[in-house]
Amino acid sequence: MIDYLVDKRQFHLHNGKISYVMELTTDGFLLQVHNGAPIKQFTRRDVYPKYIRSSFNPSPASRPKGDFTLAVIPQEFGTYDVGDYRVSGIEMTYPDGTQATTLKYYAHEIIPGKPKLAGLPATYANEEEAETLIITMMDAPRMLKVQLIYTIFADLPVITRSTVIENFGSESFMINKAYSAGYDFDDADFDYLQLPGSWAAEKQLERLPLRKGVHKLDSRRGASGSFMHPFTALLRKETNEFSGEVWGFHFVYSGNFAIELEEDSFNQTRVNIGISSDHFNWELAPYETFQTPEVVEVYSPDGLNGMSQVYHQLYQHHLVRGRHQLAERPVLINNWETTYFDFDEESLLALADDAKKVGVELFVLDDGWFGNRNDDTTSLGDWFVNEKKLPKGLPDLADKIRAKGLEFGIWVEPEMISRRSELYKEHPDWHIHVDRYPESLGRNQLVLDMSRQDVRDYLYNVLDELFTSTGVTYVKWDFNRNMTEWGSPLLTAKAQGEVAHRYYLGLYELLERLTSAHPEILFENCSGGGGRFDPGMTYYMPQSWASDNTDAVERMKIQYANSLFFPISTICAQVSEVPNHQTARVTPFATRMNVASSANMGIMQRLGEKTSEEMAAIAEGISWYKKNRKLIQYGTFTRLLSPFENNYCIWGFMDGDQSNGLLFFGRILQHADEPFLRIKLPMLDPHKFYQIGNYHGSGEEFMKYGLYVNTEIHGDFTSMFFEIKEIPAVTEEPTLDYFG
Ligand code: GLA
Repeated sequence: MIDYLVDKRQFHLHNGKISYVMELTTDGFLLQVHNGAPIKQFTRRDVYPKYIRSSFNPSPASRPKGDFTLAVIPQEFGTYDVGDYRVSGIEMTYPDGTQATTLKYYAHEIIPGKPKLAGLPATYANEEEAETLIITMMDAPRMLKVQLIYTIFADLPVITRSTVIENFGSESFMINKAYSAGYDFDDADFDYLQLPGSWAAEKQLERLPLRKGVHKLDSRRGASGSFMHPFTALLRKETNEFSGEVWGFHFVYSGNFAIELEEDSFNQTRVNIGISSDHFNWELAPYETFQTPEVVEVYSPDGLNGMSQVYHQLYQHHLVRGRHQLAERPVLINNWETTYFDFDEESLLALADDAKKVGVELFVLDDGWFGNRNDDTTSLGDWFVNEKKLPKGLPDLADKIRAKGLEFGIWVEPEMISRRSELYKEHPDWHIHVDRYPESLGRNQLVLDMSRQDVRDYLYNVLDELFTSTGVTYVKWDFNRNMTEWGSPLLTAKAQGEVAHRYYLGLYELLERLTSAHPEILFENCSGGGGRFDPGMTYYMPQSWASDNTDAVERMKIQYANSLFFPISTICAQVSEVPNHQTARVTPFATRMNVASSANMGIMQRLGEKTSEEMAAIAEGISWYKKNRKLIQYGTFTRLLSPFENNYCIWGFMDGDQSNGLLFFGRILQHADEPFLRIKLPMLDPHKFYQIGNYHGSGEEFMKYGLYVNTEIHGDFTSMFFEIKEIPAVTEEPTLDYFG
């Protein structure tokens, strides 16, 4: 999969689905030549037409003739202050205070498999599944080594990248910017995707034309956040969901990130991805290394669905881990919107009884079960039971719930501390703060300093004990504020710029310990909804709460956008009450059920107040979901019509042999005398025959002619599933004389 062609000084990563070609100049610069469509053999070299394109672009010292400039040429990793004026991949300040950095080739090695990234989540593969190229670049006068690490997967159009920076000198230097990867393209005929949002409105997908200058997508909140997601894709102008080239870039990290998209004066593109350089300075002592997180590139010639299906396969098989990786996920009930903080043992047990009746499998006790927590002003950090609400304790409640035939799970928010808590009384300095400086509160709480070993040990012990004593098989891990006043008293003044990243190294270490000690637990990642739903967290937690917004109409968009990269098994959705608690919208029960059933479904219902008809409807919905969840969670998912651009939302699920599937149709507003909507179903097999709803016909017919989808149900916020079933061939007797 990885060739180094010595005479051409060229690297070629290829697997029949993607090709990635780089070449070395005679003076050791590493140039990017091709990234994308598979090419069996790349025979030429020096294909870039002209190394100098205008005045005002200096040449490096190794080119005294002035026939080469770093300012224009596509490269693997731009450096700072040596004539490449585009955004750079790394920036350093050396002991003398200057910054010029040049990277030249030093060595490379090719190894089977995929090495782990020190202390960071990443995709994984065994020796048959991937091959890795490590190119060591060097700036000799600066005593700096940079390893550029590329892994190509054997049977997917995927190349991952990360970088290791090493100081082999005798003095420390400061890293001001340490990105993971840079991608240069020699044209700029692209649109790009971005996913801005906010709390309860995560991942609001936008497609925009690339423009000259630098456009930056980032988070400086101490979390990947709900405000921008660490993903972008470049698309050709003609690319749509089904055809055309796409390059997706997803960053496997949960903290501050930045994606810089630059179109230069010569219509060339650079995409740089890494840890944000805001709140980031890292002092690298002699012989120390710094490992950056991973970027996952997916190339698809088959439009956005092609890209998404690759991400889904990759994440299902090479990112999510553990016992639940490919397991059907349980239908849960969560008491949050049912009771908020106001519950006791009796009300929980009554809810559990009703939950069992409708077919729920897992009972989740949300916020409010610990300390003195009756609202959101207290007790975070006090992970022992709230005796006023649950006088007999949590293990007792858990046993009673299990005795009803349900599994038991709980909510925790371990990274936080309330000022009004026992933990704060004991450890008023355990949170992130700047000494003697006024501190901002978010949801009345402060953030524990995860860079501290003592904090992590405390959390490990208290959570390990909690999980063990209650026998929970599910944990919802929440994170409900963003960071301010970055400071950690245990670090030196110079190292304060390291807190933001050290926080995540600490969190990841804690998660590794807890998830290894409790393989039985299904962890659900949450941050006020999808505020940290990123691939970094997905490595530790096989599913995530996609949004606190449970309104079925808004959820269509949020789930649609999440499906760009996340497998459906990882995207959690719940059937909540109406009027909806976030939007006050009243949507039909069937639509709430259908939208949630298009993901990893659970319920959040006041079952005690339901009529027997309503209970029957819930039970029927859950039973239908259980029958279909393998297909939904692990089948092939295809987006067919975007709710971001249409009054409808359509997507489909197909099983592996393209025999059975489901087609979801959702309408936002009903219009009088609505035009008919015919949708083509490209996910079928053209050689098979299908029954779809009330229609039957050949796969080819449904693929090329399609199916009318908006004629069977009417009304605002309506939706339905069409079942897709393979049937024996339909043979039609030719009628020669129609009138005869
Ligand atoms: C966050 C979560 C909710 C709920 C509350 C509890 O907002 O996203 O689902 O758990 O916290 O306080």
